[in-house]
Amino acid sequence: MIEKLPNHLAIILDGNGRWAKRRGLPRTMGHKVGSDRFRDLSLAIFHLGIPYLSAFIFSTENFKRDKEEVDYLMDLFVDKFKKEAKLYQKEEIRVIFSGRRDGLREDVLHAMDEITEMTKDNRRGTLNFCLNYGGQYEIVDMIKQFMKENIDPDTLTPELLFHYTYQNLPPIDLLIRTSGEYRLSNFMLYQSAYAELYFTDTYFPDFDESDLEKALLEYQNRDRRFGGAK
Ligand code: IPE
Ligand code: MG
Repeated sequence: MIEKLPNHLAIILDGNGRWAKRRGLPRTMGHKVGSDRFRDLSLAIFHLGIPYLSAFIFSTENFKRDKEEVDYLMDLFVDKFKKEAKLYQKEEIRVIFSGRRDGLREDVLHAMDEITEMTKDNRRGTLNFCLNYGGQYEIVDMIKQFMKENIDPDTLTPELLFHYTYQNLPPIDLLIRTSGEYRLSNFMLYQSAYAELYFTDTYFPDFDESDLEKALLEYQNRDRRFGGAK
């Protein structure tokens, strides 16, 4: 029984390509299966009662990949947002995005805007897709926004700076990364300051509800002191 749930759970989805390679399949198949896995996993997360979920689905740096793979991912996103808008609407989940719009295709932006608009009044949970997202860019954008408002810099506090993050979400409590990589890879740096980190060797397309439960059980046994003494 899980007693203490994270308020904000974040996942760095990783290992789609290796999952496919291991099966002799093209990398793109890993993305397809990973995308379906994420849909089901996200519903399980909200059904448990976790209110905020952030998912790193495409970094600003992922544009360095082959055009073919990037195009496939963008097509997959368009398809996914179109198909899943109704599902998240039915589940009363608000879908939002973090990242830079510059550099994204028109059809991707359109699909993002449609699912955001359709689900904007939902209050059961918030699903934040980090797409064309980079954590250092977010901090740069936060500072730019703050400076544009001509507020006295001496009034700035860590809490106030949260208001300038892309979506003003609460701090991350638990951050999961799959596929045996032990890095943050520029993901939600400001929001992860006190996140509990959980790493698993499982490739994302294989990360199922029982793996999620394992991560949550470990989280509830962590001693979070936020820098205080015991
Ligand atoms: C994660 O899987 C999905 C995205 C970053 C879009 P990867 O594509 O990074 O898979 P590996 O790391 O190459 O196995
Ligand atoms: Mg990877």
